[in-house]
Amino acid sequence: MAIIQFPKDMRWGAATASYQIEGAANEDGRGLSIWDTFSKTPGKVLNGDNGDVACDSYHRYEEDIALMKELGIDIYRFSIAWPRIFPNGTGEINKKGIQFYHDFVDALLANGIEPMCTLYHWDLPQALQDKGGWENRETVDAFADYAELMFKEFNGKIKKWITINEPWCVSYLSNYIGLHAPGFQNLQVATTVSHHLLLAHGKAVTRLREGGYEGEIGYAPNTEWNEPFSNKQEDIDACNRATGWFIEWFFDPVFKGSYPQFMVEWFEKKGVTVPIQEGDMAIINQEIDFVGINYYTGSVTRYKENEGLLDGEKVDIGYEKTDFDWNIYPEGFYKVLTKINEQYGSVPIYITENGACYNDGVENGRVKDVRRIEYLKQHLTSLQRAIDSGVNIKGYLTWSLLDNFEWAEGYDKRFGIIHVDFHTLERTKKDSYYWYKQTIKNGFFDMYY
Ligand code: BGC
Repeated sequence: MAIIQFPKDMRWGAATASYQIEGAANEDGRGLSIWDTFSKTPGKVLNGDNGDVACDSYHRYEEDIALMKELGIDIYRFSIAWPRIFPNGTGEINKKGIQFYHDFVDALLANGIEPMCTLYHWDLPQALQDKGGWENRETVDAFADYAELMFKEFNGKIKKWITINEPWCVSYLSNYIGLHAPGFQNLQVATTVSHHLLLAHGKAVTRLREGGYEGEIGYAPNTEWNEPFSNKQEDIDACNRATGWFIEWFFDPVFKGSYPQFMVEWFEKKGVTVPIQEGDMAIINQEIDFVGINYYTGSVTRYKENEGLLDGEKVDIGYEKTDFDWNIYPEGFYKVLTKINEQYGSVPIYITENGACYNDGVENGRVKDVRRIEYLKQHLTSLQRAIDSGVNIKGYLTWSLLDNFEWAEGYDKRFGIIHVDFHTLERTKKDSYYWYKQTIKNGFFDMYY
């Protein structure tokens, strides 16, 4: 027996995002988002999949909430689709969109599940992209207005807000690497976007505080751990740049009010600058109530001249991988959490995403996703080590409640603890669902059981 025990007041939950699960793309006045456009552009999403139907959670949320209740979670992270609220990004408000989220949140509350709401999980109104999207500074104010409307509407009902999910993905993955919507490949655009996202985050925090709305607010940057290939200084530097691009770039401005100098200099060498205007850094540097951490993987980085943006290459040293081909590196989870605690102080942390892609299917009504259970055990052990090391962990929300539309991978990659048949939309609880249920109930698990 090896018992891994969690504090009694630990919150347990699961997470999803609007475009990945809702479907109902053309219903009740929803406007187009950049993911509608992107997924319908040939060659952008595997198998030409799109989110038109997804898990159809827009119509099936009562069934999903019943599954959450049986699971025993007391907090659920979802996102609001901005184009359901403002079909054109700004201006005309779509009452039916707001009503949908009222009905949904009321149903969660009636079942004793606290809503944790992400305001931006990547479905930017296409109308805003047509005017430059996040590269255009006006989008920052459009976001703040949308955020404030939500604070006002849901005041007293939603008490945990996340401004932006994974700003690295929204900026660099989507505008420099080009894998996600809108699919650009321009480092200056991506860097401008990263600044505007942080500014949008800061402005939303200000609106919550100044409006006197109830509730806590934070953001959810994606983290990733990098180990240097050797102890040569050039490997260590390459590794620090790789981590710095994810962590310091998106944490320093919020927690310290400045961008990390070593990364600023690196970007300058590439001819790229951050379009900071007077007062921006003070807006970004608002005190937040918690930070959401998304962690999936880690890698080994070695210096290689002119390799990629950061003069570094990922070296495959044989870690086991998930079905997404991501390394399984639970030690990195512990290291990320302790690093954040050391560098940014004892900020309350919710793990807003952690989980694994395994594509096990249904056989005789059962999904034996043993590998997901192993992944969860290993990562929850790292979490427990972080708690023991004094990291201020408040809760853990696994990604994801349901198999869903996995962005550029379409329906090909499954992260859910509940299987979804994308033809019939039938939900089947996986073995990991039962394991998680037991762990939540007990507040501990046995590594060998
Ligand atoms: C995102 C999720 C996504 C998951 C797995 C995160 O990057 O926030 O929307 O499904 O990781 O790729």
